[in-house]
Amino acid sequence: MFRNDRVLTDKSQRDALLSAHLSVQYGNKPPVLRGVQLDIQHGEVLGLIGQSGSGKSTLAMAILGLIDRKRVDAQGSIFFEGSDLLTLREAALRSLRGRKIALVLQSPLSSLNPALKIRTQLRETWRAHASGSSADCDSTIRKALESVSLPSDDDFLRKYPAQMSVGQAQRVLIAMAVVHRPALLIADEATSALDVITQAEILKLFRELNQNFGMAILYISHDLASVAGICDRVAILHQGEIVEFGNTQKVLTSPSHEYTQRLLAAMPRMPQASFAAKAAAR
Ligand SMILES: Nc1ncnc2c1ncn2[C@@H]1O[C@H](COP(=O)(O)OP(=O)(O)O)[C@@H](O)[C@H]1O
Ligand SMILES: [Mg+2]
Repeated sequence: MFRNDRVLTDKSQRDALLSAHLSVQYGNKPPVLRGVQLDIQHGEVLGLIGQSGSGKSTLAMAILGLIDRKRVDAQGSIFFEGSDLLTLREAALRSLRGRKIALVLQSPLSSLNPALKIRTQLRETWRAHASGSSADCDSTIRKALESVSLPSDDDFLRKYPAQMSVGQAQRVLIAMAVVHRPALLIADEATSALDVITQAEILKLFRELNQNFGMAILYISHDLASVAGICDRVAILHQGEIVEFGNTQKVLTSPSHEYTQRLLAAMPRMPQASFAAKAAAR
């Protein structure tokens, strides 16, 4: 079932986990984000869809405080749990990053360190925001592996990234992202490099993490087809502006913006009706 369509109201922004109103410009080039207004509600999966170059990763980096504010002009606000992320100092952002807001990127094998066993990489992730005994650490990282349906025995923990399949490596990255049970997980094209079957499995995993832990997910993709199965709402980003934002089923079945209509029409393999069926079956 879908939640009722939510429009941006003062109340939904106030109650939101994150509420952004943002413009970003790199140097003296034209703005990359132009007055983007986006709210992420607690526990929802929000899809952010747009073509390559539309500004998706810029938005993700701004939320994570990874924009170089000396060189990049970021105007507006990004409220998250009562603080404006755009005005927080680096130390405060470091404390949020990986603990309250985590990121999963596209290519698992290049995001993991090939020279370190995954136990070492998971332990480092845990120690970045926690202190305690090795037993506490190992118990938490084993739970994180179990939450992404990976083995958590010593044999698996001793593996190097190259000894795993791409799908397993992506699950390890997701395990790292959820070690501290963040309130918001940002998946930036996290399934784009995977074959279709692995992609479907990882999408299912995101949905499970969302349902099991109430973790909100900002699911970023250039692929509108992939959002149908997992996103409650979807925002369509076109040339730095959000041109459509609403309930996924509604956007897929009756897109109001001409650009969304073109996106849907450009998908030859899946007729629009099957998106709706997939979305409705969730
Ligand atoms: N650090 C940067 N410096 C200058 N331009 C950038 C930088 N990062 C991104 N851009 C430009 O901003 C635009 C949006 O990029 P990006 O946010 O990566 O889009 P997307 O993730 O949707 O592909 C592109 O034109 C890109 O070239
Ligand atoms: Mg990108």
